[in-house]
Amino acid sequence: MDTAEIMEIALEMAELDEIPGDSAIHVPGKDIKRVLIGIDMWTSELLLARELNYDLVIAHHPPGGVARINFDQVVLRQIQQMTEAGIPPHLAEKALKPRLDVTRANIHTSNYDRFVSAARLMEMPFMNIHLPLDIICRRRFIKAVEDGTKKVTEPLVQHAIDAMNQIPEMKMGMTEPMVHVGSAKNLLGKWIVAMAGGTNGGAGVAKAYFDAGYSTVIYMHLGTADKKELAQYDNAGNLVATGHIASDSVGIAPFVKELRERGLEVTPMSGVFVPE
Ligand SMILES: [Fe+2]
Ligand SMILES: [Fe+2]
Repeated sequence: MDTAEIMEIALEMAELDEIPGDSAIHVPGKDIKRVLIGIDMWTSELLLARELNYDLVIAHHPPGGVARINFDQVVLRQIQQMTEAGIPPHLAEKALKPRLDVTRANIHTSNYDRFVSAARLMEMPFMNIHLPLDIICRRRFIKAVEDGTKKVTEPLVQHAIDAMNQIPEMKMGMTEPMVHVGSAKNLLGKWIVAMAGGTNGGAGVAKAYFDAGYSTVIYMHLGTADKKELAQYDNAGNLVATGHIASDSVGIAPFVKELRERGLEVTPMSGVFVPE
């Protein structure tokens, strides 16, 4: 199998037509049999892969190259998620602006060539797959909360947390979902899983959901400044962060299983938990 075919498998699973801005084949490779996959895979992991005779390194988070330069294209997807949830486009655009500005400043500041150049010099096939696997992740969290709360007459935030904790990858992770704003004892109300938008939407996007009638916003992670800002917001409901690494595994593990089904030997590391 070659790197293009491996990318295609991820795109198919996520129902995407093209490689999104946060994913890329940095060093192409063919005749791939042994794969090392992790959430963050940098120069040390590339060296480890060579030491252990792997043919390909797959990272989840963009290590650099076009997957970092075009990262904001994926963050912009949050506008679409908000409009699908009933937020008018002009408010969605305003809500995302602070987070988008930070993302773009980071892109402009970072050394996008460091890890990609290391792979190039080592001639180690290297790719990263971000959004496609986050789409799978979001799908699974939505299904878990739907299934886990449909039989409860008036579900609480805790019911949603319990349902998400039943996902095998979440059980394998070392963290549990955290209620950053609001309380696990509050009514769940109308809820949204706001994931698969590059990064979290910060306080701005959460406020837009609360203003639009959502009582509970489920993020993968949230910064402390955003948490502070939301805590002071009168209209705020509940903000649950599912926990970064275990949650990323919820999207990555099905892909690892699919690659194994197709005959590849795949070793997870760096935060990827794959249940039996
Ligand atoms: Fe992710
Ligand atoms: Fe992540």
